[in-house]
Amino acid sequence: MYPCSNPELVAAAANGGGMSIIQPVSLTMVHGYDEPNLNQGLINGIRYIKSITNSPLGFNALIEKGNEKYLKRMSEWIDIALDEDIRFFVTSLGKPDWVCEKVHSRGGYVYHDVTTRIHAEKGVSCGVDGLICVNNRAGGHLGSDDMEKMYEDLKDLDLPLICAGGIGSEKELQRALSIGYEGVQMGTRFIATTECSSPEGYKDAIVNSSEEDIDWTVKLTGVPVSVIKTASYKRENPWFVRLLLSGRLKHRTRWILNFLSFQRWRKMTQGRKSSKEIWSAGKSVETINSIESATVIMERLGQSISQ
Ligand SMILES: Cc1cc2nc3c(=O)[nH]c(=O)nc-3n(C[C@H](O)[C@H](O)[C@H](O)COP(=O)(O)O)c2cc1C
Repeated sequence: MYPCSNPELVAAAANGGGMSIIQPVSLTMVHGYDEPNLNQGLINGIRYIKSITNSPLGFNALIEKGNEKYLKRMSEWIDIALDEDIRFFVTSLGKPDWVCEKVHSRGGYVYHDVTTRIHAEKGVSCGVDGLICVNNRAGGHLGSDDMEKMYEDLKDLDLPLICAGGIGSEKELQRALSIGYEGVQMGTRFIATTECSSPEGYKDAIVNSSEEDIDWTVKLTGVPVSVIKTASYKRENPWFVRLLLSGRLKHRTRWILNFLSFQRWRKMTQGRKSSKEIWSAGKSVETINSIESATVIMERLGQSISQ
């Protein structure tokens, strides 16, 4: 998760048995692994995580088009991750054909985040190995369908389907598996953990919120992102939403928003006060009732399905 995936959190979830995903923008630019340059910083960051866990790790590649320099960097980062023996990749946004080519040639797997059948078919045509079905309860970028509908819409594509969104405890995990999903992808639950370095106020807001306290905004990245209704949160005008989501400026507008939200997050994670505390979390807050160790959470989830 950008910006919440600090190295210790990634390692702690992996130690509990999860396939923990490294978010490279978060690792390098938010959590200090940008020295002496971004590529060497990423290598150092991955090696640090591997020094505190022996479990397999995954790597997240956000591949939205619109910024050639960023995509070139991401391509180099994927090569670095492969050189560091990572073989599981999660792509989000964009067309993952070139990622599949690179990763498959080194014996790895690519799972692609999707919110609709159109995106899923695009992923299938690019050769992805699995689909992560991001539903309408997810933290971060959210979809518009519920977990049942997504499964029904995509099950004929003959790929493993992973449920993302709304899983805060063993109860929802069991439900997703009973629908037919092969596994789940979780975000929000791992922010409210002892190993996550996000501000304590963010963790407390997750623990103290119920699903009615979750809304979405396009202000952060230009596409709908689920947020907790904090004092800084304000529902935006529908015309503003339309303006951001349409027109030729779409990609550029998203990059500007991403940059602004990056600045704000960097400030917050460095303990500096930001005038706006806008925190992303999904409706899984409903069953998240305390701050716990990510390792303990993962072990408990694992035990619940091996019983
Ligand atoms: C704060 C936050 C940041 C996220 N950042 C990313 C990201 O950088 N890349 C990505 O593929 N998914 C990202 N996600 C989505 C998660 O990978 C996952 O799909 C989602 O959190 C599942 O919903 P849940 O939060 O209800 O568990 C993020 C989620 C949150 C809450």
